[in-house]
Amino acid sequence: MKSPRIFVPNDATAVACGADRIARKLAHELLARGVTADITRNGSRGLFWLEPLIEVETEKGRVGYGPVKPSDIESLLQAGMLHGADHPLCVGVVDEIPYLKKQTRLTFARVGIIDPLSLTDYEAHGGYRGLKRAIEIGPSATVEEVVESGLRGRGGAGFPTGIKWRTVAAAPADQRYIVCNADEGDSGTFADRLIMEADPFCLIEGMTIAGLAVGATRGYVYSRSEYPLAFVVMEKAIEKARNAGLLGKNILGSGLDFDLEMRMGAGAYVCGEETALLESLEGKRGLVRAKPPLPAHKGLFQKPTVINNLVSLATIPVILDKGGSFYRDFGMGRSRGTMPIQIAGNVKFGGLFETAFGITLGELVNDIGGGTASGRPVKAVQAGGPLGAYLPVHQFDTPFDYEAFAAKDALIGHGGLVVFDDSVDLADMARFAMEFCAHESCGKCTPCRIGSTRGVETLDKVMAGEQRAQNLVLLRDLCNTMKLGSLCALGGFTPYPVLSALTHFPEDFGDTPSLPAAAE
Ligand SMILES: Cc1cc2nc3c(=O)[nH]c(=O)nc-3n(C[C@H](O)[C@H](O)[C@H](O)COP(=O)(O)O)c2cc1C
Ligand code: SF4
Repeated sequence: MKSPRIFVPNDATAVACGADRIARKLAHELLARGVTADITRNGSRGLFWLEPLIEVETEKGRVGYGPVKPSDIESLLQAGMLHGADHPLCVGVVDEIPYLKKQTRLTFARVGIIDPLSLTDYEAHGGYRGLKRAIEIGPSATVEEVVESGLRGRGGAGFPTGIKWRTVAAAPADQRYIVCNADEGDSGTFADRLIMEADPFCLIEGMTIAGLAVGATRGYVYSRSEYPLAFVVMEKAIEKARNAGLLGKNILGSGLDFDLEMRMGAGAYVCGEETALLESLEGKRGLVRAKPPLPAHKGLFQKPTVINNLVSLATIPVILDKGGSFYRDFGMGRSRGTMPIQIAGNVKFGGLFETAFGITLGELVNDIGGGTASGRPVKAVQAGGPLGAYLPVHQFDTPFDYEAFAAKDALIGHGGLVVFDDSVDLADMARFAMEFCAHESCGKCTPCRIGSTRGVETLDKVMAGEQRAQNLVLLRDLCNTMKLGSLCALGGFTPYPVLSALTHFPEDFGDTPSLPAAAE
């Protein structure tokens, strides 16, 4: 009889919830019962409220049990978990759980399904088909396929990826680079980590395609320093790909060379900004560079560089495999394809939800996320990280789309949503935004370096009721200066959470029934 296959996630979320202890206990109990089973350490499915989620392969499909504690293992085995039997922790066939079933997983198609470090598993689930096609059609057709897909950068600015690649490919140089931005500093985000821990070959394949497309032979993954597990998984996967001839010289007999290395981030939010990242990668302090020149012309070591977010690069294999027009068929307006939305904060069902652009914020927070974990009414959602606006409930009909969000002075950013219930004080959150900027500012330009500290002081005065009306005028004036005068988006976007809090929740700033107009 075939040994049962059991999946216990090795992802940081599941491990933090005790998945390693569960794997050990399971192995021990199976040995004690004389049962041979294959325990695969998969990545997370992204249904975090169920972690640690154990899955067992059955004729019906993969049956899940979660959230499991080590003390549940005996009763699970007694109930017949190895045959997918019922138990109070049973969640049924995992693919049938509505949270997963409602998703369109293109970038995250293999996440949680495969053994992250098995090339055989990766290839059995469509891996390396994209690279093979890129080799077949050649560099310029590969770039055009990415242009055709309509893919926009998933790191924050939403710049068209194909156009960036065209620029790098056309820049004359003896050396070009591919840099993956995996610094992932936005609040409530974890999509980059999930890919690195659950489907590392997908990123390696995406970066290899990028290298072949623009004529770059070296790549670097700049990973957030708080992701030690992801770093180790990536290093192992790179080694395996190299040994299999999928990195290094003459990849798949194509005559093309590409290799890559991991680099640990310096631990500052601003090091996620592309030019500060390049400085840090060169071994210097993470100080923002003035643009121009663009990194596409003069990037890493002054050479033309593709710097893309990890999700952008991990989306390349599916685009090359299925075609640019297949990908662009999903979405709305100029927001094409799918977005891995990360639902976090005070929410019942936190996790990753990949879906085509166009779903509304309200659907995401209430229908998918199930409202707040505290059971209290939702008051606001911060979208797009610490530089993103706070959206009130009356804006929940906004579709997830770059332009629709921009029209509300809001950001999609890296797709993170942080939900707050009615106990949140938005004046405190506005102060936090300024404080965060003061703490993380690289110090290169005055509006951000000095403005953020003045912003904290001014908000303190407003909150203390000191000359509130005058200080609110001053605050708006300061926000305008930061928006217009900052060198990068850290100083330039900090006003958005502050002004959205002021506009939508004036009562949190004191008894201000109507807001003073911005100073001219
Ligand atoms: C302060 C700041 C922090 C940023 N942090 C990140 C980050 O952690 N990850 C990321 O991909 N992009 C980040 N960005 C955006 C990058 O500068 C850049 O736009 C992105 O890496 C380009 O890749 P994409 O076109 O694939 O999105 C940040 C920008 C700013 C201003
Ligand atoms: S806005 Fe802030 S982080 Fe950006 S360059 Fe200026 S000082 Fe540095």
